[in-house]
Amino acid sequence: MSARRPGADVRGDFPVLSRTVRDGRPLVYLDSGATSQRPTSVLDAERRFAETSHAAVHRGAHALAEEATDAYEDARARIAGFVGARAQDVVLTKNATEGLNLVAYSLGNAGHTPGAEHLALGPGDEVVVTEMEHHANLVPWQELCRRTGATLRWYGVTDDGHLDLGSLELSQRTKVVALTHASNVLGTITPVAELVRRAKAVGALVVLDACQSVPHLPVDLPALGVDLAAWSGHKMLGPTGIGCLWGRGDLLDAMPPFLTGGSMIEVVRMERSTYAAPPQKFEAGVPMVSQAVGLAAAVDYLEAIGMDAVAAHERALAARLLAGLEDLGGVRVVGPPLVEGTERGGTVAFVVDGVHAHDVGQVLDSRGVAVRVGHHCAWPLHRRLGVQATVRASTHVYSTEADVDALLAGLREVQRFFGVAPAVAPLAVSTSQGAPA
Ligand SMILES: Cc1ncc(COP(=O)(O)O)c(C=O)c1O
Repeated sequence: MSARRPGADVRGDFPVLSRTVRDGRPLVYLDSGATSQRPTSVLDAERRFAETSHAAVHRGAHALAEEATDAYEDARARIAGFVGARAQDVVLTKNATEGLNLVAYSLGNAGHTPGAEHLALGPGDEVVVTEMEHHANLVPWQELCRRTGATLRWYGVTDDGHLDLGSLELSQRTKVVALTHASNVLGTITPVAELVRRAKAVGALVVLDACQSVPHLPVDLPALGVDLAAWSGHKMLGPTGIGCLWGRGDLLDAMPPFLTGGSMIEVVRMERSTYAAPPQKFEAGVPMVSQAVGLAAAVDYLEAIGMDAVAAHERALAARLLAGLEDLGGVRVVGPPLVEGTERGGTVAFVVDGVHAHDVGQVLDSRGVAVRVGHHCAWPLHRRLGVQATVRASTHVYSTEADVDALLAGLREVQRFFGVAPAVAPLAVSTSQGAPA
């Protein structure tokens, strides 16, 4: 069988893409950065599990409980393999936000946990983030600092949307560097290797928000040299309600648990309890089993296409969109240009001169084009760039050139409707009398 190619070839695998919206208009879905759509194979895997093997995992000795446990642990192994990791180092969470909170809470409790004291933070210590973080990788660190007395510092962003590596020096006081791998607004891919080098030089942990990288690019987490990384299943063609946290094995061993209760324990007495080894230590309660099965099916789907092909496809669509926006005029793109050799993801955010992003979104929606508008949970970044809100187009494996063209046509309509279309530049004509015929 020939390899599956992203784009038009795979659209039939995604039932939702054949529906219409707003009085019969074909759906043009360009909001995959918020959440992606699910192929039939993922929906089928979830349904098959629910119909045949649904049971609580890691408890009970009946046939269904065993099958469910096997399905859950098999899913974990396939999800781990997707990012080059060992199964025992991947904790399944509700979403990426929960994974990042897990780390921040766990580090906050390290000072009271025998064997974890070396991970504790206190007054005088620093947590470093970046100005382009999604709130999910900012607010938990603000809270950790508030609880421990540590100080939050951050790398700034340059005007063209790169990380400003000169804006901050790490020091022996830096205990954690938490940064995004790919910006959910700018499309910028951050220089993780350099940040890891700097963090290791001062003995700091590196926590990666991989929400916008793992679904779109080939990523080998252990090879990146980071210590922990979180991402969500629903942005990589999987179900909602499941996220992943990968961590270095020795670190997960040392970290105190986050939520406590059933399934995460070793021995329980009335006075106190001891805890299971990771990943169970971090998975209290009955986990999301059908979601894990669905996410493993999403991994299979992406692997069948190949993450290099997915990344190349999204880059080509971004190139088409960026060129189209330039031709359109009157649009300011936030984020780095797509030039040869630049690492940049497929997300493109922009402002239409003279029109609020929400109005742009509304006109586009009336034409069936779904984009995200607002601050995209990256409010400090918008403040830094001097924009209140942006329009964001984000693609995935099923997006096509026709989707990009529909967006561009919609934007022409926005400019016409609001009377802000830039004047068309006059064609350059020769004024010399003797111009050749
Ligand atoms: C960069 C980034 N980090 C974190 C998140 C949070 O993901 P979730 O809501 O699935 O926890 C998102 C989602 O938009 C994101 O884009």
